[in-house]
Amino acid sequence: MSSPCPSFRYRTLLELALIASAIYIFLLGAPGLSNVLGSGKTAVPTPKVKQPLTKPDSLVFPDPDLKCPEHAYNVHVYSTKPLVIYIDDFLSAEEADSLVELSSTSWQPSTIFHAGAETHDPSVRNSDKALLPRTRLTQCVEARALAFQGWPANTFVERLWAQRYNASGHYARHYDWSGGGRAGRRESTFMVYLAGGGEGFAGGGTEFPMLERRAEGGWCEFVECEGAGEGTVFKVRKGAAVFWRNFDDEGRGVRETVHAALPVGEGVKVGLNIWSWWQRGLEVGDLVGGGEEEEGKKEEL
Ligand SMILES: *[C@@H]1O[C@H](CO)[C@@H](O)[C@H](O)[C@H]1NC(C)=O
Repeated sequence: MSSPCPSFRYRTLLELALIASAIYIFLLGAPGLSNVLGSGKTAVPTPKVKQPLTKPDSLVFPDPDLKCPEHAYNVHVYSTKPLVIYIDDFLSAEEADSLVELSSTSWQPSTIFHAGAETHDPSVRNSDKALLPRTRLTQCVEARALAFQGWPANTFVERLWAQRYNASGHYARHYDWSGGGRAGRRESTFMVYLAGGGEGFAGGGTEFPMLERRAEGGWCEFVECEGAGEGTVFKVRKGAAVFWRNFDDEGRGVRETVHAALPVGEGVKVGLNIWSWWQRGLEVGDLVGGGEEEEGKKEEL
């Protein structure tokens, strides 16, 4: 007569292992797993740098009473998995010029986050950055970015920063994940071109080494079709934006979103980052009443 005990014990162990791996994958976001998967043929950074899981204190939401002018742009879906969209005329030429003008007084060297600390390393990132004041225009751009995504709940934008790349200016391959996880994360990115492209400008495209190049269907207008390489390089076009989602539906960072700002060969490129941040449970009302800085910002409207 065999007792049911051995099989019972075996099942318990198996269940334990299943529960443990479920905890590993869903609760901890499978730390280490993406590093293992990351050893493919394309040289991309291993997504292991974790920043603190705190919400940025720079989250903003456009004034609900804001009246913004009508604006039309052209949407071109490049990839649905991951979601990558090229938006031509996301900003008008005048809007782009105005944002460059707003940046002009506050340029400072760009920094990177390494092992949780903010540092300046021109070999990784060589550019200047400027925090944009929250004028009516900047808030209308914030509103346009959130409207594009359907005003998702609990979603805000981080204060807007412009980035200036002179000749040889660049930003090495990186992720925008910002250590996000199940409680809050940098859900999406708009990389908007405020200046650059056209005559007297070369290089500076936004490279996605793991995103397969599409040369058919008219895409050569927006992506580099000449030269070797399997990845995608979006061309700099003033007013255009590249939009992508950094996370999948389960809240895991998408490896194919690794990207770089290629070196500028000639001319000056100015880019604008619009990052949408989702924070579990955070409501618009939680942001208002924010002290002197908010007061100062209002005056600039
Ligand atoms: C870019 O050019 C501007 C204007 O010439 C200069 O002030 C700035 O320091 C340069 N930035 C970098 C990162 O080289």
